[in-house]
Amino acid sequence: MCGIVGYVGDEECANLLVEGLRKLEYRGYDSAGLAVLGEKGLSVVRAKGKLSNLEARLAEAVPRGKTGIGHTRWATHGKPSDENAHPHSYGGVAVVHNGIIENHLELKESLGKAGHKFSSETDTEIFAHLIHDEMQKGLDLPQSVRGALRNVKGTYALAVVSDEHPGMLVVSKNASPLVVGLGEGCNFVASDVPAILAHTRDVIYMEEGDFAVITRKGVEFTDLAGAKLARPSRRIDWTPTMAEKNGHKHFMHKEIHEQARALTDTIRGRASIEEGDVFLDGCHLDTKLVQKLTKIQIVACGTSWHASLTGKLMIETLARIPVEVDLASEFRYREPLIDKNTLCVAVSQSGETADTLGSFREARSRGARGLAICNVVGSAIAREADDVLYTHAGPEIGVASTKAFTTQLAAFFLLAVRLGRLRGTLTPEQGRRHLEAIFEVPMLVERVMKYEDLIRQAAYKFSHARDLLFLGRGPQYPVALEGALKLKEISYIHAEGYAAGEMKHGPIALIDEDMPVMVLAPRDSAEEAGVNYEKILGNIQEVRARGGRVIAIHSEGDTKVPQLAEAAIPLPQTNPLLMPIISVIPTQLFSYHVADHRGTDVDQPRNLAKSVTVE
Ligand code: F6R
Repeated sequence: MCGIVGYVGDEECANLLVEGLRKLEYRGYDSAGLAVLGEKGLSVVRAKGKLSNLEARLAEAVPRGKTGIGHTRWATHGKPSDENAHPHSYGGVAVVHNGIIENHLELKESLGKAGHKFSSETDTEIFAHLIHDEMQKGLDLPQSVRGALRNVKGTYALAVVSDEHPGMLVVSKNASPLVVGLGEGCNFVASDVPAILAHTRDVIYMEEGDFAVITRKGVEFTDLAGAKLARPSRRIDWTPTMAEKNGHKHFMHKEIHEQARALTDTIRGRASIEEGDVFLDGCHLDTKLVQKLTKIQIVACGTSWHASLTGKLMIETLARIPVEVDLASEFRYREPLIDKNTLCVAVSQSGETADTLGSFREARSRGARGLAICNVVGSAIAREADDVLYTHAGPEIGVASTKAFTTQLAAFFLLAVRLGRLRGTLTPEQGRRHLEAIFEVPMLVERVMKYEDLIRQAAYKFSHARDLLFLGRGPQYPVALEGALKLKEISYIHAEGYAAGEMKHGPIALIDEDMPVMVLAPRDSAEEAGVNYEKILGNIQEVRARGGRVIAIHSEGDTKVPQLAEAAIPLPQTNPLLMPIISVIPTQLFSYHVADHRGTDVDQPRNLAKSVTVE
């Protein structure tokens, strides 16, 4: 949500800023702009819509200068327009901002009374006016930004330049992400690492309340009061090519195909088959701590919430601890029953989702221990956690989450085995069998990719549907929810995920030939067809009896389900708790090919932001 990039160094920076913004497109935006400081002072160029609109404007006259800030805006206050696009400038000060200023109406009114005129409907513009007023008192830029921030209530990641201070960026962070990149003879700031990955892998993640002055020579960190802070840098292991499409038409397609690798990276080095146990670097769980847990509370949003529903099943089955899963946006305002015997698990690809972070804080403030399952190293949720279990999915650029989901499931499975071993609900032999199964999963995921042509044909056949229902039972129910979310967010087809047993309690009324139904119907395990399988066969019959058209996802070798379906996609079989990692893949590919066939913007669907850093 909103992307910030800033540069100070020896190079002309306008194009470099646009390149950085392109790497942040995945965050979602509806306008873009940049401000460059050069010999002729401050130049600001902005445009509503995609970056290509900004580039068209820049082509008319590229602003020259070696210090600059850029921004992609996802509208909150004020519609998408040229005027509301960032940077906002006033009297030689330019500002880009991600977040929400809660007292902006009040501030606008008092500034208005003092004679200030505003040229946008945004809350951000206030910053430029406040900072300018401070500078009028004879303060320098860092002092003036501090002064302005003292008046502001709300969330922000902020980058500021002033024509009185060429060669300086002033940045600050409160609740919205900001990372400083250290180059040679130049330095950077950005909302996320991919924006600067082509230039440096040495970064410093800013912490809440951090303030920094960045010049080409170095970066000085202080708090808002001006007290110096030491902020160590870290070298990240993501490479620039990890954030490229590598020949795929879309990032989403590339990321779907990266899942075997991402799963291997998430599992590798964390489990010992001989010992039937798991070793989670960064998670300091021991027998004493785990024995006293009375419950596990998971908080997450969107796809991460779907992964958490499967995580609950894994933990309750293998470790026999009660698990509650809440949508983070609901949890934080419901007076939850949490105490020091609760382990709160926050699940987030980005590690920056505002509701998940807020809920995690809420649970921890009530005494819970906090464990984060995150993909982005050093992200806010990871930093606040007592224990961190990183998924090693690599950068996920497509707005629709794919490899983050499957690696979260792998992380949950490892956690469940570890908890089971610590609580004694799993013997070493049982642990061993589970670990053998997860080690096999990346290879099975590769095998599913071989069915892509079949899945594409099914997708084209049903791509004109207006509505689609996804049904699953047991471990396949969260997959049905996830399949529906994926389809609706990238193809704009209305889709619902349902527990198949619930169909008779309502959705069956919708079924006719215009409402295709995707049924997740693998056998329960390699050994037995199982109760979920038998029951879902019945659900398929119910759909057909009402003229419904069935797309079935079934186990390889099964002959019953394909006979009942108009399109049938086979899957290799594994441990039932791991089956969602396999069965979600055809739903991802199906959604991808439907959306691509319909010609939607697959990687940046309308109205969506990759990382939702505001409530
Ligand atoms: C869906 C999707 C979103 C995210 C949600 C949480 O494809 O990407 O639903 O899963 O916004 O994001 P994280 O995991 O970053 O907290």
